[in-house]
Amino acid sequence: MKVAVIGAGNVGGTLAQRIVEADLCDVVLVDIASGMARAKALDLADAKSLTSITAKVEGTGDYKKICASDIVVVTAGFPRQPGMTREDLLKKNVSITRQVVKEVAKYARDCILIMVTNPLDILTYVALKESNFNPKRVMGMGGVLDASRFSNLIAQELNVSAESVKTLVIGAHGEAMMPLLRYCTVNGIGVLELLSREKLDLIVENTIKRGAEIVSLLGKGSAYYAPSAAVFLMVKAILKNEQKVVPACVWLSGEYNLKDICIGVPVKLGRNGIEEIIQVKLNPKEQKQLSNYAQSVKDTFSRLKK
Ligand code: APR
Repeated sequence: MKVAVIGAGNVGGTLAQRIVEADLCDVVLVDIASGMARAKALDLADAKSLTSITAKVEGTGDYKKICASDIVVVTAGFPRQPGMTREDLLKKNVSITRQVVKEVAKYARDCILIMVTNPLDILTYVALKESNFNPKRVMGMGGVLDASRFSNLIAQELNVSAESVKTLVIGAHGEAMMPLLRYCTVNGIGVLELLSREKLDLIVENTIKRGAEIVSLLGKGSAYYAPSAAVFLMVKAILKNEQKVVPACVWLSGEYNLKDICIGVPVKLGRNGIEEIIQVKLNPKEQKQLSNYAQSVKDTFSRLKK
């Protein structure tokens, strides 16, 4: 089995390390900065003799090497530069995504595609349209990361293991994300029974701000340990056909009363990619929030076309 990671920066490089160290499958790192991709692959391979890892790892700038990949993960993109507006950045990353996905569709046309580059919900849709893949094989990593941050903050507050906290975050991968409290439990015990509403509201707020908090502390770049761990979980669920239920950014065709949009909802992941879209009950307020966000994504697309 083989996973190609496009973009060998912080998220891509750390993801490659996680896959190789778990000896899950072979990895090809591709970057426009091919020297960096090669360097990281050599460095990862040099560590193999210190362990019992057999997975192969290769770095390149040549897309032919992604041939026969089971999964392609796209982390390629640019962070916001001084003087650049959000819209400028969006245009730049849309153009990179189109370029990259064109190559993916050419050389790995049977793969499952996982988008990571932000703004995620928009770029997952761009990737779906550009690849022309079956929507079951295209998804974005957002909800797994947001839920892991939410779980971690709840676990800290309750002084329980993070792994025992199960949370669900749907909708946007961004400030409009929707942590659904009544679907969050500590091994089956509803968090609403364990923490006050005020405490939970504060934790939700801190979850939403977590990405920005890390960006501001780092001074340069954005989070990559938890993001790469979140992608790793999705890659493993697919390759091992785990039928794992996670939130992911997927194309909707009527589910949640939304059509022709990529947005975060719970899905079941297995060897075919998105095995099922799971529809949980939303109250009218939540449905409105989700629909409003979907509309804002559609408005962004209309602006981009101008
Ligand atoms: N083809 C291939 N690689 C590219 C291209 C391209 N057209 N354009 C840029 N890249 C590469 C860059 O050379 C860089 O190595 O993408 C890599 C991005 O890495 P980083 O700048 O380190 O960014 P990273 O922290 O990995 O985040 C990547 O994931 O979580 C999201 O918001 C994050 O959108 C960002 C993405």
